Amino acid sequence: MEALKKQAGIKAAEFVQDGMIVGLGTGSTAYYFVEEIGRRIKEEGLSITGVTTSSQTTKQALGLGIPLKSIDDVDGVDVTVDGADEVDPNFNGIKGGGGALLMEKVVGMATKDYIWVVDESKLVDPLGSFKLPVEVVQYGSERLFRLFSDKGYKPSFREKDGLRFVTDMQNFIIDLDLGTIPDPEKLADELDHQVGVVEHGLFNGMVDKVIVAGQSGIQILKASK
Ligand code: 5RP
Repeated sequence: MEALKKQAGIKAAEFVQDGMIVGLGTGSTAYYFVEEIGRRIKEEGLSITGVTTSSQTTKQALGLGIPLKSIDDVDGVDVTVDGADEVDPNFNGIKGGGGALLMEKVVGMATKDYIWVVDESKLVDPLGSFKLPVEVVQYGSERLFRLFSDKGYKPSFREKDGLRFVTDMQNFIIDLDLGTIPDPEKLADELDHQVGVVEHGLFNGMVDKVIVAGQSGIQILKASK
């Protein structure tokens, strides 16, 4: 599995050219992409500016000597490479397994060429086996938890080291154990309109390309937009 993630991450780096503003994703697959960008800067003299999607990736990028800017200090992002937890045949996906969904969506929305890197186990139909992360403000989060529970969404507060997980933006995450998501658009719309929800992990139709690493090689799936 690790080898497949690495293949996908390295392949994605081929889409990066000199002078680009590059969104740097979060997670164990995006990690290999960021590592490869660091290598190309050192060994090939590649000149890019990175925009990170989490404090975790910021730390990795700084360690590799990748020049960084905030999303607020760039006009747009040329290409972003990020991981995903699930991808369906309509190019809808679940993200946020690493808790970085809010920054990931902000950077993804600002990107011209938005690429996901996954191993083949992430391709599903329908979405929903992976628990859907919902980032919520701390104030009123118990009320939201009860509301999700009443709807049968089987919520759980994400925890880390025995404490409630707090995102880079100081919010909580409630994971919804939905099993299947028959209508991702409808659910996204419902969550978008829920006061207290900052963002959710449904990334519907946002991605341009999905680089899939499998036992039989690399496949690049392109969304028609
Ligand atoms: C972090 C994410 C990740 O991209 C997603 O969880 C996939 O991670 P991995 O490549 O480690 O499986 O959305 O918030």
